[in-house]
Amino acid sequence: MSYSPLSAQDAHEVRGLAGRAPSLFNLQPWRFREAAGALELLLDGTVALPATDPDRRELVISCGAALHHALLALRARGWRPRAQRLPSEHDAELLARIDVLDGKENPTPSDRALVRAAQRRHVDRRQYAPTAVPQEVLLDLVSEDAVASVSVLTGDQRYAVAQALTKAAMIHAGSDAYRAELAAWSGLMPSAARGVLDESAPWHGQRYGDVVVRDFGYAETVVRETGSALTAGSLLLISTGTDDRDAHLRAGEALGAVLCQAELGGLSSCPLSEAFEVPRTRVDVRHQVLGDEGHPQMVVRVGWPQSADLPAGQRR
Ligand SMILES: Cc1cc2nc3c(=O)[nH]c(=O)nc-3n(C[C@H](O)[C@H](O)[C@H](O)COP(=O)(O)O)c2cc1C
Repeated sequence: MSYSPLSAQDAHEVRGLAGRAPSLFNLQPWRFREAAGALELLLDGTVALPATDPDRRELVISCGAALHHALLALRARGWRPRAQRLPSEHDAELLARIDVLDGKENPTPSDRALVRAAQRRHVDRRQYAPTAVPQEVLLDLVSEDAVASVSVLTGDQRYAVAQALTKAAMIHAGSDAYRAELAAWSGLMPSAARGVLDESAPWHGQRYGDVVVRDFGYAETVVRETGSALTAGSLLLISTGTDDRDAHLRAGEALGAVLCQAELGGLSSCPLSEAFEVPRTRVDVRHQVLGDEGHPQMVVRVGWPQSADLPAGQRR
């Protein structure tokens, strides 16, 4: 196989779209480096959340979402990108090396539309409209990859995840270290380049029907219950076969794909990861939803937006 060197313009477009990816607490924990015609994706070693994400699992998931966006950007420019994940066993921060095969082809309309979706998309932490998302729309979001898969949670499975989210929020509320980390990265003003803006955070102490959403800034025990399971939205689970760095990267790629596809379908979306930051509740979900086969990585709430006036997350 022979490869073309990436031009400065390609690298610029890749960085631009990858920078739109979602990330834990909007930390954008990725770096790109040009290397002999290729582009390397690195985990930003200066970012650490020892209480929330001690193994950097979610930071790598965030980088996986950036990798998804990077590959999408190249496909939409007509390239056939190839990603080598974790190319060096000596450099734990080097997550992927991206090359493009010689020869361009016409980009598909779907990739072009997904690029526009990635550029537009923002998390919507509000309640959603009280109209169920039809099964066929949800099925567009479901995927089964050799490493990571996305499934819709219904019945007992949804109940188990909702319970885990509640329990995790209560455990987090009692953790000074977690609350300090969360407070450092939330309640921010629009001038902040990283972190979660105050205006895009939900009201404090919220439970939407059966679902407790992350309480940016305060980590209260839940006090206010509004809406219903319908306005909380449908829940998707991203899980992986193994629980190593490769799996976390792939889970992030699956997350990037789901959020863009949801946006394309006119849906609002919001990742929810608290249940998997607390070992006890992660084990519960693994047991009750996955039958101890596979590893839960992330929940995504999706639903129809209530209104279009969504505050945009900031970027570096
Ligand atoms: C690994 C990961 C975990 C996340 N967990 C949550 C969460 O628990 N609650 C939430 O509201 N948003 C969560 N998010 C969404 C981020 O907060 C969001 O992507 C970031 O603030 C940037 O906002 P934007 O995607 O709207 O630009 C998560 C995102 C990632 C990638």
